[in-house]
Amino acid sequence: MGNIILIGFMGCGKSTVGIKLSYRMRRSMLDTDKLIEKEEGRTISEIFATDGEVYFRDLETKCLKNLIQTEKNRIISVGGGLPIRKENHILLKQLGTVVYLRASAETIYERVKNDTTRPLLQGENPKEKIENLMEQRLVIYEQAADVIIDVDGKDFDTILDEIIAKV
Ligand code: S3P
Repeated sequence: MGNIILIGFMGCGKSTVGIKLSYRMRRSMLDTDKLIEKEEGRTISEIFATDGEVYFRDLETKCLKNLIQTEKNRIISVGGGLPIRKENHILLKQLGTVVYLRASAETIYERVKNDTTRPLLQGENPKEKIENLMEQRLVIYEQAADVIIDVDGKDFDTILDEIIAKV
């Protein structure tokens, strides 16, 4: 309740925007990926490699349910795939105001092309992977969002101003 939740594709800036927003609004920040890694004692890549994506998605839903019980007035950044489960949309709305940071596939590719920590983007042709996943997820993010912020070509101060004006 009263939380601000940042959703959006991998590399859209959820973590960086979240930290900056937390300073600006003097609220503390949480990140579901980090909470899950801490709880499990292993990285997201290890969880995917050992137990697979469905197991990870179950952990995300469990994490969301816990946050609803415990958190108020925080900035919460969630993993890029968390909104793909429809049941999580209801949980996100219960948790607070959902802000979607919308970025183009080109912007995302430029930001994540050298990244090795995101299992879904490893291997051949990451650009195509981004485009395919994004096509599947665009509508889902829009459905889950209370507020949509386009981030392409904007500096962080502009993005923060827009979020604060709209939430
Ligand atoms: C994922 C996004 C990642 C992380 C995992 C799966 C996704 O989080 O949860 O690698 O399915 O989009 P970020 O959006 O913070 O990179």
